[in-house]
Amino acid sequence: MANSAFQEILSEITHFAATAKDFASLQEFSVSLIAERLPYYNWVGFYMLAPGDDNALLLGPFHGAPTEHLRIPVTEGICGAAVAQGETVIVEDVASDPRYLSCSIDTKSEIVVPIRAHGKIVGEIDIDSHDLSAFGPDDRSFLEESAAIFGQFLEKKDKEQNDKPTAQAALAK
Ligand code: SME
Repeated sequence: MANSAFQEILSEITHFAATAKDFASLQEFSVSLIAERLPYYNWVGFYMLAPGDDNALLLGPFHGAPTEHLRIPVTEGICGAAVAQGETVIVEDVASDPRYLSCSIDTKSEIVVPIRAHGKIVGEIDIDSHDLSAFGPDDRSFLEESAAIFGQFLEKKDKEQNDKPTAQAALAK
């Protein structure tokens, strides 16, 4: 896959993130865009740490076949491994990885990239491919850059929330 496709997607996600009203809309936009532009990205989705519970990942917006894995403990799956290790995990052949939680019998390889905000993992982006060894260094860079955009977006929204005067403070003015 040409690097220009990755660059184009990153630029469109950055552009959308500049005015997205909330994280959910940025997630929806991104999973659709990525899946449409990269045909070997057969399932594209977010898993985010459960609010107040760093031990479980909850399925977020995704593009692809429905999955039964709506909640994944961080001790399980390739998804859990990426959080536990705090780094991108690439599996060339899911059939030979005992950690793998099956989502579709068509899936042959997978990449999971953590998303950090304020220096802490808050979730991840998960991609499955029907091709063996589908993901190389360029995919990793592309997805890690995407994850950085998502993390920065969350930090920006947190800051906006913290800067917002409370109703009481606004009334006192
Ligand atoms: N394969 C993942 C589970 C999620 S599905 O791929 C959508 C895993 O092993 O954690």
